[in-house]
Amino acid sequence: MDRHLQKPENLSLSSSLPIQDSPPPPIMGGLNNDSSSSFSDKSAKIFVAGHRGLVGSAIVRKLISLGFTNLVLRTHSELDLTRQSDVEYFFSAERPVYVILAAAKVGGIHANNTYPAEFISVNLQIQTNVIDSSFRFGVKKLLFLGSSCIYPKFAPQPIPESALLTAPLEPTNEWYAIAKIAGIKMCQAYRIQYNFNAISGMPTNLYGPHDNFHPENSHVLPALMRRFHEAKTNKAKEVVVWGTGSPLREFLHVDDLADAVVFMIKNYSGLEHLNVGSGKEVTIKELAELVKEVVGFEGDLVWDSLKPDGTPRKLMDSSKLAALGWQPKVELKDGLVDTYKWYLENVTQ
Ligand SMILES: NC(=O)c1ccc[n+]([C@@H]2O[C@H](COP(=O)([O-])OP(=O)(O)OC[C@H]3O[C@@H](n4cnc5c(N)ncnc54)[C@H](OP(=O)(O)O)[C@@H]3O)[C@@H](O)[C@H]2O)c1
Repeated sequence: MDRHLQKPENLSLSSSLPIQDSPPPPIMGGLNNDSSSSFSDKSAKIFVAGHRGLVGSAIVRKLISLGFTNLVLRTHSELDLTRQSDVEYFFSAERPVYVILAAAKVGGIHANNTYPAEFISVNLQIQTNVIDSSFRFGVKKLLFLGSSCIYPKFAPQPIPESALLTAPLEPTNEWYAIAKIAGIKMCQAYRIQYNFNAISGMPTNLYGPHDNFHPENSHVLPALMRRFHEAKTNKAKEVVVWGTGSPLREFLHVDDLADAVVFMIKNYSGLEHLNVGSGKEVTIKELAELVKEVVGFEGDLVWDSLKPDGTPRKLMDSSKLAALGWQPKVELKDGLVDTYKWYLENVTQ
């Protein structure tokens, strides 16, 4: 399935690449009726960038389950996507037909605040190299992934795609958000100027196998799971959680996202990015109680209401994707059971 090619010394392809100079008119949106990009050839070569991450690994599982046999995969150490000439060499040698861009420098508020330079520069470099090489080396279709942080801090709820660039961003993650917005715009620009079939999906909060359970810099759901698990193991009497538990949040199992990625490649070739959410909101309190139940922690759950709550509500409006015919399938409780099983088998070992 995978073959790692060695790059010859001193080979640079940057300066001698074919650029299409007379592009046909751009496709300005709507359903993808082009059978040539119907994603039905199970032997078509697909490059999943970031295949060991939460998102990339789910996409690989999904593609394998659908019978795709020609996935081309590279770890970060095999191919650093920030290195333009290495990326160009990889594309010239491998010539993937489809590209799914799930590689990114990802992190929470603390990481964004500590490493703003890396968050903006690494993400801009990865996506610029991969999108540009995909176009230059004849990729049939590319899907770029961003996140809900692209939207203004005070966007209307649920957040529609049209809220993009209408007001200031949340300052704590603007470095990452600006890079992701540039990725959306780059896909649009290459579609307009070169008719390159690049689309963008903006997922809501994701969870599932291969999530980050780090004690200091994980998202709320894996952080709760880890804390309840450790409290159960240590026979603790209580777990204290910050805030009142009242903020509303949306979660999507990463297997549902992978399903949506395949759906979008098959069915969508529009200029506009698409939100990908579950459409279901839970309070942090409901989430915590569900995680407690799934983990089997029998002590008390205590809320420290003197600590800050964060944004009261964050929900994506995913009605455009729903109107195309996609729906999530994984219920939150089932998804938590699946995630805890993975955690027990992989993190606590
Ligand atoms: N997690 C979420 O809740 C969430 C929500 C919405 C959207 N998304 C989006 O989904 C995408 C993937 O996120 P994720 O949660 O799957 O992140 P992740 O688990 O951290 O995975 C990111 C992957 O990218 C790879 N990578 C990073 N820098 C690279 C480089 N320079 N060269 C090659 N590979 C590199 C990483 O490899 P190494 O680990 O080896 O560095 C890793 O495999 C991101 O665009 C993110 O915005 C995520």
